[in-house]
Amino acid sequence: MGKMNIGMVGMAVMGSNLALNMADHGFDVACYNYTPDLTEKVMKEHPHEHMHGFYGLQEFVDSLEKPRMIMFMIMAGSPVDYMLEKLLPILEPGDMVMDGGNSFFEDTRRRHELAAKYGVHFFGVGISGGEKGARLGPCIMPGGNREAYEYVRPVFEAIAAKAAGEPCCTYIGGDGAGHYVKMVHNGIEYADMQLIAESSLLMKYAGGMSNQQMSEAFYEWNQGELKSFLIGITADIFAERDDMGDGWLVDMIVDSAGQKGTGRWTSIQAMKQGVNTSMITAACNARVMSNLLEERAALGESLAAGLNTVDAGEDFLEDVRRSLYAGKIAAYAQGFALYRSAAEVYGWQLDFGRIAAIFRAGCIIQAEFLNKITEAYNRQPQLANLMLDEFFLGKIKENLASLRRVTAMAITLGIPVPALANAVQYIDSFRAGQLGANVIQAQRDYFGAHTFQRKDRAGSFHHQWQEHYKG
Ligand SMILES: NC(=O)c1ccc[n+]([C@@H]2O[C@H](COP(=O)([O-])OP(=O)(O)OC[C@H]3O[C@@H](n4cnc5c(N)ncnc54)[C@H](OP(=O)(O)O)[C@@H]3O)[C@@H](O)[C@H]2O)c1
Repeated sequence: MGKMNIGMVGMAVMGSNLALNMADHGFDVACYNYTPDLTEKVMKEHPHEHMHGFYGLQEFVDSLEKPRMIMFMIMAGSPVDYMLEKLLPILEPGDMVMDGGNSFFEDTRRRHELAAKYGVHFFGVGISGGEKGARLGPCIMPGGNREAYEYVRPVFEAIAAKAAGEPCCTYIGGDGAGHYVKMVHNGIEYADMQLIAESSLLMKYAGGMSNQQMSEAFYEWNQGELKSFLIGITADIFAERDDMGDGWLVDMIVDSAGQKGTGRWTSIQAMKQGVNTSMITAACNARVMSNLLEERAALGESLAAGLNTVDAGEDFLEDVRRSLYAGKIAAYAQGFALYRSAAEVYGWQLDFGRIAAIFRAGCIIQAEFLNKITEAYNRQPQLANLMLDEFFLGKIKENLASLRRVTAMAITLGIPVPALANAVQYIDSFRAGQLGANVIQAQRDYFGAHTFQRKDRAGSFHHQWQEHYKG
């Protein structure tokens, strides 16, 4: 047996599927798992001429051609530190370790520093697309040393999903950039899913539509500018009969959504960087609210109101479609504004147009719409906000009235639409001449002498504010 081209640590769902994907592309993959039983099981269940199991770490490392390339597909957090600390002393300068799990980007930056002390290149690699993506072609977001990336590139480009013939993989930037981009991708995914869920609530409770009608509407939307993986699967979801009873499966699913934390990380990070990602935050909070089943049941009874079916008018469905599109623009504008800020804060040369381009296949947020984002950044690589681009500005102008109408209708009827409402608020915050910040500055100066600036002259001013209403 010759030397292996690449090593995979982690034989759970993602690691085994990614190893099979690499093996299918002719790479010899050394497979290792913390507990050897899983390696044995995968080797038995998926025999492949290019995949070989190793049961000792030294034996695994020795099997690899140099410089060694080792990929981790293991649980994020302390397992990554544990494996890295075991490996670093037995690797050699120039070797590469690539963490493909959902690690927090600050951990990746720290591990990058640690590995550098051994001369080892550490890569944080965002991987999207779940089990199927790993097996058939994921979207890959690698961050780390630019020169060392050239060794890894042929493997990643071979196994990545392809969009219009191009691999959905591009070098993202230094140290934690790949994991950062993946984190925000997940945040955008939260907002996108929430917008679609809210649109379905509107169709059902304001429009009085049946599941079949909703499925057909999503199917039709998926033929046009909203074409995306998420809209496509939502059309399928509303057409699915319950296999354990009468009716529709989606109506039998408990109204309480899970989350693993990457959306929340995005939101916290945006707060730290001072970037408004209100729609991602709204989507995280919507899931949090969905979990409060007991409180919702109690208050739902006491505050029972709204959620009536109304005659929403002829243009209702088109209004919902347009508001979904406008909301989607606002969500991506927020996510990409966060990328822009991160490039400055962390000194990464992020290529925003390429990032949008690699999201076109292999990942959950793949959509037609992403081509438009790439085109916008091709026109203006340092665009401050997507909505300043002529195409997206035109679309906001076209659809804002619908977004406003639909959101107002939802609020009147008591239908919760936090993502759509935040989209209107986000757009209005740019659009409105006054945001009330002058009143806030006056208050800050009144109680804390924080000073304010004037419109008519330069400098900072403090005013002796008078108590006009004493006693
Ligand atoms: N599932 C998805 O759709 C998806 C998509 C993209 C990214 N990811 C990310 O990809 C990574 C792998 O995901 P997964 O679902 O395949 O597996 P997982 O359930 O997140 O993790 C299981 C793997 O981690 C290993 N592990 C746990 N503790 C360890 C330790 N202390 N030292 C070494 N290895 C340890 C396990 O080994 P043992 O068998 O010995 O316990 C097993 O190989 C995760 O970071 C996940 O967030 C997942």
